[in-house]
Amino acid sequence: MTKERPLWWAEEPFNRTLALAAGASSVRGLQTAFFVPRILAGAQALNMLQSAVAGIAAAARVLIITDQVVRPLAERVAAALRPAGHTVEIWDGVLPEVPVELVEEGAKVAQEFAPRLILAVGGGSAIDAAKMIWVRYEKPDFDFRQINILEPLGLRQKALLAAAPTTAGTGSEATGAAVLTEDGQKMSTTHYELVPDFAVLDPAFTAGLPPQLTAYTGLDALSHATGAFLSHWANEFTDPLALQAIRLVFQYLPRAVADGGDLEARAKMQLAACLAGAAFGNAACGPDHALGHAFGKLFGVHHGAAVGLFTPYTFGFLARVSDRYQQLADFLGLPPAPARERLTALFRHYVDFTRTVGGPVTISELGITRPDFAARLPELVELALADGVSLLSRRPVTAENYRRLFQYAYDGLPVDF
Ligand SMILES: [Fe+2]
Repeated sequence: MTKERPLWWAEEPFNRTLALAAGASSVRGLQTAFFVPRILAGAQALNMLQSAVAGIAAAARVLIITDQVVRPLAERVAAALRPAGHTVEIWDGVLPEVPVELVEEGAKVAQEFAPRLILAVGGGSAIDAAKMIWVRYEKPDFDFRQINILEPLGLRQKALLAAAPTTAGTGSEATGAAVLTEDGQKMSTTHYELVPDFAVLDPAFTAGLPPQLTAYTGLDALSHATGAFLSHWANEFTDPLALQAIRLVFQYLPRAVADGGDLEARAKMQLAACLAGAAFGNAACGPDHALGHAFGKLFGVHHGAAVGLFTPYTFGFLARVSDRYQQLADFLGLPPAPARERLTALFRHYVDFTRTVGGPVTISELGITRPDFAARLPELVELALADGVSLLSRRPVTAENYRRLFQYAYDGLPVDF
């Protein structure tokens, strides 16, 4: 694959080896760090935000980063802050997938306005864009492609970061991760300093989300929580968050999909997405995210639908190196059974749930013909292997096992290798 764009830190071969080595059991566990934002949740979230901003400065300059679709919600946030004496500017230039050029544009606005708080209002794209705009604002000479967890960034010299999500899925309001697009390629970066200072969870902000998007973003949250629980990076802090997120998604996502005006279900899903974000942000997501990124890119499938499709296929794959799936099956109340049967029951449990909310569970059902799938399989495997998430997999991934995972997902078979 020829690349004309500059390499990102995690693409350098040496750094990839380093990331793999960090996952070795002898290295892991020597230190546990846990980063979360201060969380302001509920119908009074905007009032709490007003007090929080007053704690930064009596008259703070606040730059809201949003897109044109959710701008009306950004206006509501601004209207809640202005009476307290804060100066608020709204920049609505965020685009889906966050092209890197957009970061420069937003950073220019930030340099001119000089905010004390950068506040993202929107879905994952707005929050991820705000993270990078913030980095450019704080450190104009630093190339954000070189962000890596080994070196401190030195943020928060000029501003703090807050995020008010309008979808319940990415969990970006609770993680240090950001996904951008450069030359058509999705690039991700992560750093603990990028975890926002405040996550503002007003359930009314997600009420307008249509049923399909509600389902897909909810499946993304389920994938994050499940991946975090099964990850070898899971720890005592991330486990309860992951399990509670899983419980909430199973209980409330069908309700939120069936009735978008069910504010209790919306509120619970918003919490589930944030919990799942905090879980995978401090542990890791599973190989379903590498498979889903590759598949979503080549076949134009929504991120949540794509990762949700692959989640059940990771169970049998990871079971070769860990019996954590047994704890997940216990948690979900699946009856005791021999290992193989229990894995299949867990697989079916997730598949049935995904179907219930309208998510795809096989590649074939998306109308992708077998010849077309076979023709693109090598590229799918190559993309999935190159994905940064592949470096975090509990079971080491190879081209051969990715190829088989894609094939099992094409046919809808529980993984047995
Ligand atoms: Fe995701």
